[in-house]
Amino acid sequence: MSRVLNAIVAVCPNMGIGNNGNLPWHPIRLSNEFKHFRKMTSTPSAEGKQNVVIMGRKTWFSIPEKNRPLSGRINIVLSRELKEAPPGAHHLASDFSSALRLLDTAEMADTADQVWVIGGSSLYKFDCDTFLPEISMDKYRLLSGVAGVAEGMQEEHGVQYSFEVYES
Ligand SMILES: NC(=O)c1ccc[n+]([C@@H]2O[C@H](COP(=O)([O-])OP(=O)(O)OC[C@H]3O[C@@H](n4cnc5c(N)ncnc54)[C@H](OP(=O)(O)O)[C@@H]3O)[C@@H](O)[C@H]2O)c1
Repeated sequence: MSRVLNAIVAVCPNMGIGNNGNLPWHPIRLSNEFKHFRKMTSTPSAEGKQNVVIMGRKTWFSIPEKNRPLSGRINIVLSRELKEAPPGAHHLASDFSSALRLLDTAEMADTADQVWVIGGSSLYKFDCDTFLPEISMDKYRLLSGVAGVAEGMQEEHGVQYSFEVYES
């Protein structure tokens, strides 16, 4: 079954997405940014279904233990080394294609809804190399007025950022 892949990333002006295993702005906590991430990745398009988040091993372990797995979502962790899913994760996959194949198993076919790739960097790269054309921004359209997405510059704890939703 073909599926739309969604990717979400919080990125600095210098394209940085992480530092020392944390988000670049750690220990500052951008709660509205976090809420945006949760809303986008958690909200299924149909009642009774759950979205899926796919992440690399380091991103999984970058999530505070008390917040793992990301609630209300099916958590798939990618690793070539791990032999079993880390405690709390719902599934382990040894490559991206295997992760997508999991979604077609009887266990998940009826429950898995949107698929969200949530990092880290190799996942975004892998996505582009394998499933999407090279990201040239001229192929994407910046949407405005997306329901529930705040517009304009946001600021939390002195850190400014904005939400951007693109459609290809
Ligand atoms: N700003 C954001 O939106 C955002 C989002 C996510 C993460 N981050 C940050 O990014 C950092 C973590 O990201 P990262 O890029 O260092 O690591 P990562 O991609 O989360 O994890 C890398 C590991 O994932 C496994 N992996 C990745 N691609 C795979 C594939 N195609 N098939 C099988 N296994 C695969 C491998 O695990 P094994 O070594 O076990 O084989 C690899 O060593 C942290 O600082 C985190 O806070 C930021």
